[in-house]
Amino acid sequence: MAVVTLDRLSKRYERAHKPAVEEVSLTVADGEFMVLLGPSGCGKTTTLRMVAGLESISSGKLAIDERVVNAVPAKDRDIAMVFQSYALYPHMRVRENLAFGLRRRGVARPEIDQRVKDVAAALGLSELLDRRPHALSGGQRQRVALGRAIVRDPKVFLFDEPLSNLDASLRASTRQEIAKLHRRLEATMIYVTHDQIEAMTLGDRICVMHDGKVAQIGPPLEVYRRPASVFVARFLGSPPMNIVPARLDGTEDRLSALAGGGGFGLDGAVDPARLPADRAVLLGFRPEDVSLASPESGPRAIVQAVELLGAETIVSATLEGGGEIAVRAPRDLVAQPGEPIGLAVPPQALHLFDPATGAAIPRRAS
Ligand SMILES: Nc1ncnc2c1ncn2[C@@H]1O[C@H](COP(=O)(O)OP(=O)(O)O)[C@@H](O)[C@H]1O
Ligand SMILES: [Mg+2]
Repeated sequence: MAVVTLDRLSKRYERAHKPAVEEVSLTVADGEFMVLLGPSGCGKTTTLRMVAGLESISSGKLAIDERVVNAVPAKDRDIAMVFQSYALYPHMRVRENLAFGLRRRGVARPEIDQRVKDVAAALGLSELLDRRPHALSGGQRQRVALGRAIVRDPKVFLFDEPLSNLDASLRASTRQEIAKLHRRLEATMIYVTHDQIEAMTLGDRICVMHDGKVAQIGPPLEVYRRPASVFVARFLGSPPMNIVPARLDGTEDRLSALAGGGGFGLDGAVDPARLPADRAVLLGFRPEDVSLASPESGPRAIVQAVELLGAETIVSATLEGGGEIAVRAPRDLVAQPGEPIGLAVPPQALHLFDPATGAAIPRRAS
C-alpha cells in the first residue's frame, strides 16, 4: 500500500524571486502511474525531489499513507528514484550494482542473490551480470538503473526523465518495458517527463505543470480532449492545437465562431455567464480534427507549406484574415503553396478559451 499525497507543496530556493513549485496538490493512488508533464523549468524535478526527500519542503505537507513525512530523511521513506543520468558504479559489475542498495541495508546474502537473480531475469540482464557498466550499451545501463530501483521493492518509485538519454527506438522499447513493469509490480509510480508521448502512453493520469503550478490533472485522453487552458491544449498534441482569435456570432443555442472568413458552427450551447462580454474568444481546434472542404464557402486558408511524412501530410496554412494553422491531412493529399483550402471541423472538436486568461470556456453538450 502506498498513497502519496502532496498538499499545497511549495519550494522556494534561496534568493529565487519566485517559487520553483507553488502549492502543488495531488493525490497519487495506491498502484497508480502518475506522470508529471511540463516544459523544462516548470518544477517537475523539484517536486519529485521533495517527494524523495532530496530537497527540503518550503511549505505544505507531504504524506505517504497518511503519515506526514516532511521531516523524514530520504533513506527512511522507502522510495526508489531513477534519474535521467543513470550513475552506475563504474568499478562494480552489474551484479554488485544491483545488490548494492540491499547490502547497505543489511539484507541477508541468500536473499540478495535471489532478488538480484529475479530482477535480472525480468529485465533481460541475466547474461550481463558479470559485466561492468562500460561494457554495456546505453539501454542496458538504463535497465540496470531500473533494476537497482526494483530490487529494493520500495513502496514508491520515482522516475525523472529516465529515457531522455536514449535514442528514439530504445526510448520506445524501454517505455514499453516500464509499462510492463508497472503492470507486474502494481506499485505506485510518479514519472516526470517533458515528452507528451511518454505521458500519454504510460500515465493512468497526467498532471500537467506550468510555472511551478498544476495546470490540469486527469486521465490522458481526458486532458487531450478537454484541456483546461490554452497552455495545456498546446502542450499535448503534435502539431499542437491551432488557436486563433474569433468572435462568437448567433444566439445562445446556435452559436458559431467567426474566423478565417467564415463560421465554425458550435452545437453545444455556451453558458452565457461564461461568455466574454464582447464575445471575443480564442478558438481552438486540433490539426487532426480538420478535414479539407471546398474553399468556396466557410472558413478558408492559404497553404504555406506541405510536409509529406509518409503516413500523413502536415499542411501549414495562413487563415484568411490572419493566423497560422496546421492541418493533418491524408497522405495522398496533393496541395501546393499558395493554394486556397477550405476547412471543416466537427462542432464537438471546437474549443473556446477566454482571451484574457487562457482558461477554457466550458460548453454544454447538446
Ligand atoms: N538547486 C536550485 N537552486 C535554485 N534554483 C533551482 C534549483 N533547482 C532548480 N531551480 C529552479 O527551479 C525551477 C524549476 O526547476 P526544475 O524543478 O528543475 O524544473 P524541471 O524539472 O521541470 O525542468 C527552475 O526555474 C530552476 O532554474
Ligand atoms: Mg527536470
